[in-house]
Amino acid sequence: MTKVFVLNGPNLNLLGDREPEVYGHTTLEEIEQMCREAASSAGAEIDFRQTNDEGTFIDWLHEARRDADAVVLNPAAFTHHSYAVAEAVSALDVPVIEVHLSNIYSREEWRRKSVVSPVASAVVAGLGARGYTLAVVAACEMAEGKG
Ligand code: DQA
Repeated sequence: MTKVFVLNGPNLNLLGDREPEVYGHTTLEEIEQMCREAASSAGAEIDFRQTNDEGTFIDWLHEARRDADAVVLNPAAFTHHSYAVAEAVSALDVPVIEVHLSNIYSREEWRRKSVVSPVASAVVAGLGARGYTLAVVAACEMAEGKG
């Protein structure tokens, strides 16, 4: 069965409560449930995780090299500065979709640069929680060679 890792970076555990006018009211637990349903309809399974620690995030990307058929990731603030995360993404040879709830390109100057996008297969930004489910479905298709 196709396995998709869905990896979430710092502060995303606060979703629903943190700046809802920017990130919406949906909690990370609700997003996980939405991703689980999307994967199951596509005949796939997900491994959904969140960490506030950069090293852990990188370790999970290394684990994905062995155990995942595709990766959906919201690197959160790591997006904008972490060359270490970008290099771990670059080391993957499975499809990788970068997701942002907000449209990072319409926000503050420092958010408009992603060091991850150049090494991602695709980017979804500005669709809120729905961006995750679209990314999961696309990741499944790409892993199965249909996307
Ligand atoms: C975010 C955008 C980032 O700039 C921010 O640091 C986040 C969330 C998003 O999903 O819109 O934590 O990745």
